[in-house]
Amino acid sequence: MTGEITVRHIDFGRDVGPLMSLLTGRDRLRLEHCEPAVRAGDCFVFVADEDGAAVGWAVVHTNYRDDQDWSPPDEDTKAFQQGDNAYLENIEVTARQRSNGVGRLLLEAAQNEAKRLGKKLLWLHTSENNVKAHSLFDREGWTVERSVYPPWKPTSKTRVYRKVL
Ligand SMILES: CC(C)(COP(=O)(O)OP(=O)(O)OC[C@H]1O[C@@H](n2cnc3c(N)ncnc32)[C@H](O)[C@@H]1OP(=O)(O)O)[C@@H](O)C(=O)NCCC(=O)NCCS
Repeated sequence: MTGEITVRHIDFGRDVGPLMSLLTGRDRLRLEHCEPAVRAGDCFVFVADEDGAAVGWAVVHTNYRDDQDWSPPDEDTKAFQQGDNAYLENIEVTARQRSNGVGRLLLEAAQNEAKRLGKKLLWLHTSENNVKAHSLFDREGWTVERSVYPPWKPTSKTRVYRKVL
């Protein structure tokens, strides 16, 4: 039995704990480092809230910042965060809540907010074998622009997806 899911902007005070328990590895560092960017208006983060606790998140960069400490999957990642472009750096739903439409809610909220902020295109990278993620992006009208091989994982084919907002 699951509670009602709502999507809202992140509240770092109450969301960091639940998000840290659902995220792993590199994504935990993303959470630690996105707070200054959110405060400066260079990034927005939506959480999926179930009974007050975050069960998923979506992170979108709207302005490139020099203090970003994650490694870009390809050289265009900086351009994806400038001008008309915004970049969906991460979307994740806790395993227990997957296949319930939570990913779709987060993705649609992220698309709408990027559009509201005046962005025309939203971009993301995802691994070639992430079939579950592909079906979500395909259903939401994203298209595959090309494939790249991240410098930090040169054997891992990665899709560049684009959504016209
Ligand atoms: C990718 C991810 C975010 C999708 O989240 P999700 O909440 O499972 O997504 P949705 O529920 O909206 O859609 C997933 C499936 O559930 C189905 N679904 C949606 N609502 C449903 C409902 N009410 N009842 C039954 N099935 C439903 C959808 O049809 C979809 O099925 P399909 O993939 O076979 O077409 C999630 O799998 C995840 O966190 N993966 C790990 C992190 C990751 O890979 N992120 C992407 C990196 S870019």
